[in-house]
Amino acid sequence: MLKKLRQAWASQDVKTFAGYGAVALVFVTLIILAASPFATSFMQQWSRADVETRSKLVLNVTRDNLETLLSQDNSSAVKALLERIAEDEKVLAVGYCDERGNLRYPTKLMPAIFSCEKVARSDTDSFSSFHADGHDLLIGAFPVLSGRGHLVILNDLGFAKQRGAEIRRYFLAILAIILLATIIVATFVAVSFIRRWTLQIRHTLVSARSGQTVPAGSGPFEHEVRQLIRQLDLNRPGMEEDRTVWDASAVRRLMETDLAGTEVIVVSNREPYIHNRTAAGVDIQLPASGLVSALEPVMRACGGTWIAHGSGNADRDVVDANDHIAVPPDTPTYTLRRVWLSDEEQDEYYYGLANEGLWALCHIAFVRPTFRESDWQTYKRINERFADAIIKEAKTTTPIVLVQDYHFALLPRMIRNRLPGATVITFWHIPWPNAETFSICPWKEEIVQGMLGSSILGFHTQFHCNNFLETVDRFVESRIDREHASVTLGGHETLVRPYPISIEWPPAAMAHQKPVPECRAAVFARLGLSPECKLAVGVERFDYTKGIVDRMRAVDSFLTEHPEWKGRFVFYQAAAPTRSKLTSYRAVQEEALAEAAAVNAKHGSEGYNPIVLAVRHHEPHEVFELFRAADLCIVSSLHDGMNLVAKEFVAARDDGQGVLVLSSFAGASRELSEALIVNPYDANGMGATIERALSMPPADQGERMHLMRDLVRARNVYRWAGQMLLDANRLRKKQRILDLTEQEQKAHRWNMFSLT
Ligand code: G6P
Repeated sequence: MLKKLRQAWASQDVKTFAGYGAVALVFVTLIILAASPFATSFMQQWSRADVETRSKLVLNVTRDNLETLLSQDNSSAVKALLERIAEDEKVLAVGYCDERGNLRYPTKLMPAIFSCEKVARSDTDSFSSFHADGHDLLIGAFPVLSGRGHLVILNDLGFAKQRGAEIRRYFLAILAIILLATIIVATFVAVSFIRRWTLQIRHTLVSARSGQTVPAGSGPFEHEVRQLIRQLDLNRPGMEEDRTVWDASAVRRLMETDLAGTEVIVVSNREPYIHNRTAAGVDIQLPASGLVSALEPVMRACGGTWIAHGSGNADRDVVDANDHIAVPPDTPTYTLRRVWLSDEEQDEYYYGLANEGLWALCHIAFVRPTFRESDWQTYKRINERFADAIIKEAKTTTPIVLVQDYHFALLPRMIRNRLPGATVITFWHIPWPNAETFSICPWKEEIVQGMLGSSILGFHTQFHCNNFLETVDRFVESRIDREHASVTLGGHETLVRPYPISIEWPPAAMAHQKPVPECRAAVFARLGLSPECKLAVGVERFDYTKGIVDRMRAVDSFLTEHPEWKGRFVFYQAAAPTRSKLTSYRAVQEEALAEAAAVNAKHGSEGYNPIVLAVRHHEPHEVFELFRAADLCIVSSLHDGMNLVAKEFVAARDDGQGVLVLSSFAGASRELSEALIVNPYDANGMGATIERALSMPPADQGERMHLMRDLVRARNVYRWAGQMLLDANRLRKKQRILDLTEQEQKAHRWNMFSLT
C-alpha cells in the first residue's frame, strides 16, 4: 500500500492517493476500536488473577496463625488478625464462615447483605463474583481447620474496572492522535498538490498558447485547461489580412497575438550575414540575394532562428559552441545558426544538383540542366543535415518552419516525418516550369513528394502554382483539389498558394539617402557624366537568367536606331560575381564583357563609353543611390520568379520620377503593370522601349511611379510573410478544431460506455 501511495504521490493521482489514505485510516481505526474491548477484558482478567494471587498469598502467610487462634477460640485475636488482613488496599472486608455457615468476625466494611450462603464453601480455594453496595466484589473462600470453616476475603474489583477504563482512554487518545496526524498529513498533501497543480496549470497555459504538446499525465487539469484555451483561441477574431497595414510592427503584433508563443525557424542555403577575413580584420557582408533581402527584415520583426550554410571564411571564428551568432550585428533580434559543408559537399549539393540541375531546370533560359547521381546523393545527405539542425534547434514540438528555395526540396518531408506537429511553409523562390519541362529530371517523383511534406507550398505567381499542380498530376499518385488548390498525399494535405514576394517598406537602405539631385550629382561625378546625360542602370547577380547580355544588345540597337543619343546616354550595369565556379556562369560573364566592349567600340568615342560594366559587389546603400540617380532601370530577366530589383527601384524613387523597363518573364511584371514591359529576346523592341523611356514626359513618369509605389508600399514583404503566417495560423486552428472534435467524440464514446 505504501508503494501505491508513493506512486500516486509521484503521479499526482489524487483520487488514488486519497483512496488509499482513507482505507489506511479506516483500517487503523477499526483495529484500535476492535482491540479496545479485548484490552479492557484482558486487563480485568489480569487484575482479577492478581487479586486471587494476593488473597492466596495472604492466606498462606496467615493460615497457621489463624487456625491456631480459631482452635483456641481466641475471638479478639482472630478479629485483630482479620482486621489486619483487611487493611490491604484491595481488600474490602474479611470474615470467617464457620461449620454451620455463620459469618463470624466480619471486619468493618463487610456489606450487610453478605452471608456465608453466597460463597461456595468447598475443600479447595474458590472464588466467586458478587455485587454489593455498588461494588463489584471478588470473594475468595479458603478452607481452614481441614475444611471445617472458611476464611472469606472480599476484594474490591473497582480498580480492575478503573484499569479497563484507563486502557480504553489510552486507546481513544491514540486514535485521536492518529486522526490529528492524518489531518495534518492530509493538509500538507492537499497544499502540495494544489501548489504543483498551480505550477502545472501555468505551464499548460504557456505551452498551450504556443501550441506545444504537454506530456501526458503532467497534471490533472491539463486536458481541461488546454481545451478551454483552444476554445477561447478559436473564438477570438484574428488579424485581418486585407485591413492590416503591413509593416514590421504588424508582423510583430501577429506573432504576439494570433501566433503568441509560436517558435519560428527559417532554413535557407544562403545566410543573411557572411563574415569574411580581410587585411583590416573581419568584414561582414550582406549577400546579393533576393531571398535574403526579403526575409531578413521579417526575421528582425518576428525573431526566432535562421539556419543557413556558413559560407564565409571567418564564419567559424565568430560563432559560439552551438554554431550560433546573434544578428543583426548592431541590434541582435534573432539567432543565426550556421551549418557547415565541406568543399566537396558544396560542389555536389550547391553547385551541382541545386544550381546546375534545379536552377537550370526551373529557369527557361535555354541552359541545359546537368543531373549527376553523385550530386543527387549529396543533395539528399545535406537536406538530412539541415533536418538534423532543425530538430536540434526546435524548442517546441509545433514550430513554424519556413523552408526556403530549391536547395531544400526534400527537407519538408524529412521535417514532417521527424517533427509531425510542425507547420512547414515552403517557399520556392524561383519559377516552376511546366510538367513537360520538369519531366526530364531523373528524380522528379522524389522531389515533388519531398515538397509535399509541406503544410503550405508557396510560389510567386498563380501560373507557377498551376504548373506545380500539373506536375503533381502527371508524376505523383495523389488527390488534387483544384477548388481549394491543395494536394493530399498519404493522408497529408498541402495547400499550394501564390505569395508574391516583395521588399521591406521603407527599405533600410533608404534611411541615409540624400535628396535625389544630390544622389544624381554624386553618381554623375563618380562616373564622369555631364549633367545633360541620361543614365540607365541595371543591378544584378551576374547570372545567365538575368538577360544582361540581352540588354546590352538592346542598348546597341537603341544607339544604332537613335545615334543622336550617343554621348548623352550611359548604361551602368552593376553585376555581382556569382557561382563563378560553373561553366555556364563564366561563359555568360565572358560573353557580357565581350558584348560591352563591342558596343563601346561601336558607339563610344574618346572619353565616352555607353556601357559601364562594374563587376563587383555593391552594398545596398550604393545600389539605392544608383537607383535615385538614374533616369531608367532595366530589368530584362529571361526568366525570374519575382525580381526584387524592380521593386527596389520603385521604392528608391520617392521623387516620383524614373522609368522601369521590365521583362514580361519576371514575376514582378504581373504586379508592376505600369512599367514598360519588354520581351528581352527582342533586342530591337527593347531598344525602342529604351528610347520611349528616355522620352517619357515627367508627368507620365510620375503617374506610373506613384501607382507602382502605392502597390509596393502596400504589398511589401511584411504582407508576404504575414499572409503566409496567417494561413499557417488558420491551418493550425483548423487542426485544433479537428483535435477538439476528436477528443470530444472520444469523451462522448467513453460516457456512453460508462452509462451502459
Ligand atoms: C536567387 C535564389 C536564392 C539565392 C540567390 C543568390 O535569388 O532564389 O535562393 O540565395 O539567388 O544566389 P546564391 O547562390 O548566391 O545564394
